[in-house]
Amino acid sequence: MNLNNPIEIAEEIYWVGSELKNDKFQCHVYFINNDDESILLDPGSRLTYPIVKSKIKKITNLKNIKYLICHHQDPDIVACVDDLIEDINRDDLTIITHWRAWALLKHYDWKIKLYEVEENGWKLKALNRRLEFIFTPYLHFPGAFCTYDTKTETLFSSDLFGGFTEEFELFAKSAEDYYEKLKVFHQHYMPSSTILNHGLDNIEKYPLKLIAPQHGSIIKEEFIKPIIKKMRNMECGIFQNFKYTQNIVKLSKLNSALEEAIKIIALQESFFNVVHKITKALNQFYRIESIKVFLSDDYEQNIIVLDSETDRVDFIEDKDKVRMLLNSSSYLKEGAVFYEPSILHSLLNIKDPAYIFPILDSDEKYLGVCFMILNPTQIKISEDLEILSKFETPIAMASLKERQLLCLKKKNIELFKETITDPLTELFNRRYIELFLCREFKRAHRFRHGLSLLMIDIDDFKKVNDTYGHDTGDRVLKKIAETIKDNIRSVDIAVRFGGEEFLVILPNTNKNEAYHVAKRIKESIENGKILYDAKKDFSLCCTVSIGVSSIEDNPKDIEELIRIADKRMYQAKAEGKNRVIG
Ligand SMILES: [Fe+2]
Ligand SMILES: [Fe+2]
Repeated sequence: MNLNNPIEIAEEIYWVGSELKNDKFQCHVYFINNDDESILLDPGSRLTYPIVKSKIKKITNLKNIKYLICHHQDPDIVACVDDLIEDINRDDLTIITHWRAWALLKHYDWKIKLYEVEENGWKLKALNRRLEFIFTPYLHFPGAFCTYDTKTETLFSSDLFGGFTEEFELFAKSAEDYYEKLKVFHQHYMPSSTILNHGLDNIEKYPLKLIAPQHGSIIKEEFIKPIIKKMRNMECGIFQNFKYTQNIVKLSKLNSALEEAIKIIALQESFFNVVHKITKALNQFYRIESIKVFLSDDYEQNIIVLDSETDRVDFIEDKDKVRMLLNSSSYLKEGAVFYEPSILHSLLNIKDPAYIFPILDSDEKYLGVCFMILNPTQIKISEDLEILSKFETPIAMASLKERQLLCLKKKNIELFKETITDPLTELFNRRYIELFLCREFKRAHRFRHGLSLLMIDIDDFKKVNDTYGHDTGDRVLKKIAETIKDNIRSVDIAVRFGGEEFLVILPNTNKNEAYHVAKRIKESIENGKILYDAKKDFSLCCTVSIGVSSIEDNPKDIEELIRIADKRMYQAKAEGKNRVIG
């Protein structure tokens, strides 16, 4: 393909543009060869005109140009019109445009005929060529439109479908490749995705074989549908998101990162996934070392620490620090960068400079702060601060979600503990047996471990209650529970089984060992004194009867194991109490 010659892109349709060196923003000019009613589309600038002119001359005489279609009034489209008028020198030379563009173009005072598209049914008949004009308002000009050649089904799309190309590419290489180039252009140039979709709706009513945009590359039929499909989900008007950022490649990348971050939060991904993705995106332009978030928990008892450096959640148990964190975060100006160590730095033991922002809940209540640990020399201008500030919301959202989950988990654990604990003795209650003893029993069978139970019942407890009252009764129960706990290992489990009955589960313990544990408990209780009236220094003594059962008794299930221990405990009672039967 020789770019020095006109290139026929469809029947009698030529690319007659010229390559502008080192320009990502190439401007293309197209020519429809149509006898003495030939048409030149978006004639172009004075920079390209000499070559455009020489190329047209290779096809036909300049005098054959009757129509100049100007899709809008930008200089890259109309700057050469003065020269053209002079060179063509034809009385019926006509400019075709929209009234909105003409309202501005008339100021050039060209002595030329005007053909307004909306006044002419959005159509042009030029000999055998029939063109239709498609209105694409606000893309990127209020009166923007495209031209469609019905014969070849070619769309001259003006700025729509334009792209930024690092190197000159007359034809798009693939849908994926060109979409990336087109995306940066459109996100920045076009006002909104709704408006873009409206324009695409208008265009897609026509069968399309070729799209010839004024910038970027020509799109062949096979790439058109996939590109339009992607464009429909593109977010445009990203200048509305970033006020100070001028670099549009940067803008586009950051915008995608923002979108992505919001999406992954919505998809319930973890805090760490969110901040890693954000760090990765920002590190295309900065050096963010890590993101650390410090938040108070629901009870203002702990500081929850989320650290992207270690991917860990930690807790600082310090009520005073929580209070200080909440106080200082409410004084924090949004988006402040601290090059000098701040109060928060010393409070939270952070040495590095950071961009710090407060994290608030939906009621505007301060919950803590986020540190973006970074190289401060990179943060110089309002653009950088603006960019970092845009990522505050997704980080805060991810942090608050993580906090909510952690607080819920903690509450669940506490609630669960409550349901399996006896409030008086703080031993487990019977529910614990239902939930865990079966598991112990199965494990003992599978691994041939020992497993023994002690059923402990206080002797003559009714008498204690009747004689000394229920308060003393409760004190006895508590004291005995403590004594039992003092005499067992941390792996053993003591349960308040009923009123004055206790069950001790001894994993990995054979019958003989269990018998000795029971003996020890019995003796400790027998020898312990329970103070029931501190003033009078009255105390009383209690005894217990204990039945021991073990897996060596070959019980078929856990109920039987308990039944055997219970039976033996009653046997101990029957034999005179204060003894162990195993
Ligand atoms: Fe333009
Ligand atoms: Fe343009």
